[in-house]
Amino acid sequence: MSIRISKVTKRFGHIEAVKDVSLEIKTGEFFTLLGPSGCGKTTLLRSIAGFNQPEAGEIYFGDKRVDKISAHKRGIGMVFQNYAVFPHLTVYDNVAYGLKARKMQTDEIKPRVEKALQMVRLGGLENRLPNQLSGGQLQRVAIARALVIEPQVLLMDEPLSNLDAKLRVEMRGEIRELQRQMKITTIYVTHDQEEALSISDRIAVMNYGVVEQVGRPWEVYSTPVNRFVAGFIGTTNFFEGEGTGQEGLVRVGEVLLKVPRVIRPAGEKVFFAIRPEAFKVPEQIPDEERADLFRLQAKVAKVEYLGYMTKYDLELGKSLNAKMVSYDVLPENLRREGESLEVLYDPQRVLVY
Ligand SMILES: Nc1ncnc2c1ncn2[C@@H]1O[C@H](COP(=O)(O)OP(=O)(O)O)[C@@H](O)[C@H]1O
Ligand SMILES: [Mg+2]
Repeated sequence: MSIRISKVTKRFGHIEAVKDVSLEIKTGEFFTLLGPSGCGKTTLLRSIAGFNQPEAGEIYFGDKRVDKISAHKRGIGMVFQNYAVFPHLTVYDNVAYGLKARKMQTDEIKPRVEKALQMVRLGGLENRLPNQLSGGQLQRVAIARALVIEPQVLLMDEPLSNLDAKLRVEMRGEIRELQRQMKITTIYVTHDQEEALSISDRIAVMNYGVVEQVGRPWEVYSTPVNRFVAGFIGTTNFFEGEGTGQEGLVRVGEVLLKVPRVIRPAGEKVFFAIRPEAFKVPEQIPDEERADLFRLQAKVAKVEYLGYMTKYDLELGKSLNAKMVSYDVLPENLRREGESLEVLYDPQRVLVY
């Protein structure tokens, strides 16, 4: 089932929680709404679900306009952050609840519930009560409950945020796998950029009720359209410099840095960003590629060794620092604090705003 959201606005009093948002989600797509707390993700998801009524705009499931019809007629399954599992009902009865509410016959209910529980790997735990389950199992009950009605659209609002870090990573893989098997169109809400990058077909990055960028994970990471997206997704070094009148050269303090294609008059402000992994040390670069790279001298201010990678704080100038990450794990290539080094980067990878 494809979903089309057209110019949706939702207000609470004078707060515009969602402002004129338009999105198109493809059939079977895993689509994520990503943004900081309060940016309108839940509000937009609830508009799609039918739990609130937008002041303006239209929502379509396939060709059918749904924004005026009630939530239980939209064919959606919803998973909430706090599970919303009934504490006094067994696992079985929690999952069967939606089917009973739909007046389905008992002999039809049983196989559907069993199938949903198998899918989330809870087979055998039918008679447990919620207080006998772990956080991960509770969330699986909530997912089974959403899936048992065989919805055409699955909506998930920060479903993993109550779990600890390790379980979160495990469960996001399970959710993705389940979604692939069922090919169910899914809209997933999270404020966690790494989770969004790892799980999604496409991501809409939201801020203050608007969608700043829509793209595949590597698109929003490698070509963020503005400072907000560049800063919110991943780690980045922001620089504020001044034009020099020479093509591609920008002065930041006493340091000259190269950026792509920009000729700015001396003194004009230039704002740009370089990802930590864009900085390389000479031994990582084959000779024939060095000519295209910009080189500068730096000093290692801090080293954080993590085994599979190393994080460096570099001093590029008196009061100009930058972060660099290196996946070179050879001990002889580790740099030490206080050491001087040459760093290189490809000016084409610099993002100018
Ligand atoms: N029921 C409500 N009444 C009043 N304001 C609300 C209500 N729900 C959300 N808001 C406001 O709308 C904005 C977006 O909230 P929300 O959609 O919950 O953001 P997110 O899910 O991205 O954290 C926030 O400013 C929030 O305070
Ligand atoms: Mg929310």
